[in-house]
Amino acid sequence: MSRKRVAILISGGGSNMVALAKDMRDANHPAKPVLVVSNTANVGGLTKAADLGIPAAHVDHRPFKGDRQAFEKKLQEVLLAAKPDIICLAGFMRVLTPEFVAPWRGKMLNIHPSILPLFPGLHTHQRTLDAGMTVQGCTVHQVTGDLDAGPILGQAIIPVLPGDTAETLAARLLPFEHQLYPQVLRKFASGDTSKITLFGDQP
Ligand code: GAR
Repeated sequence: MSRKRVAILISGGGSNMVALAKDMRDANHPAKPVLVVSNTANVGGLTKAADLGIPAAHVDHRPFKGDRQAFEKKLQEVLLAAKPDIICLAGFMRVLTPEFVAPWRGKMLNIHPSILPLFPGLHTHQRTLDAGMTVQGCTVHQVTGDLDAGPILGQAIIPVLPGDTAETLAARLLPFEHQLYPQVLRKFASGDTSKITLFGDQP
């Protein structure tokens, strides 16, 4: 069976993109990376993609300020040219409209740094601390027109430790993001949408 073509959307450092791409180096992986796109030029993730031998592009959102439709049209063109079967949002920090997402329904994944449906949106670690939570985590889910709300495919959970700040929580969670997302993509690309749960980092 031919390997599914994966496009990965990033906005910055791209560490989740690297975790996905490295896992896809396995010749038995049901998917392969065909494109990395950033909404900002000159981010570390683009350099890392090039180092990994993956075609990398950017569609800068700033020249389209005030015209989200035009930005998304350009982004859609770039994506369609790569003929992806699956799109992974990996630290992609632009909100995509329901119109953009609709054609990719059932084919687009996202990783979000909270235990969804808790804390969609931004500043998830600070909001977790402010709520007095004893656990934090990340979620990989299918993307729908509603922000951070599609069907959940996997979650990793870590404890909140005494003295944790938003920064220490984010740093301790990231390695679990790097475990969870590749595991979910592997299953998803082979047509398996059963859920994955990881528990980590016990004190
Ligand atoms: C990750 O923690 C990811 O979960 C988060 O941004 C970071 C990107 O890091 N995503 C979101 O907040 C999406 N709303 P990376 O660029 O090193 O993968």
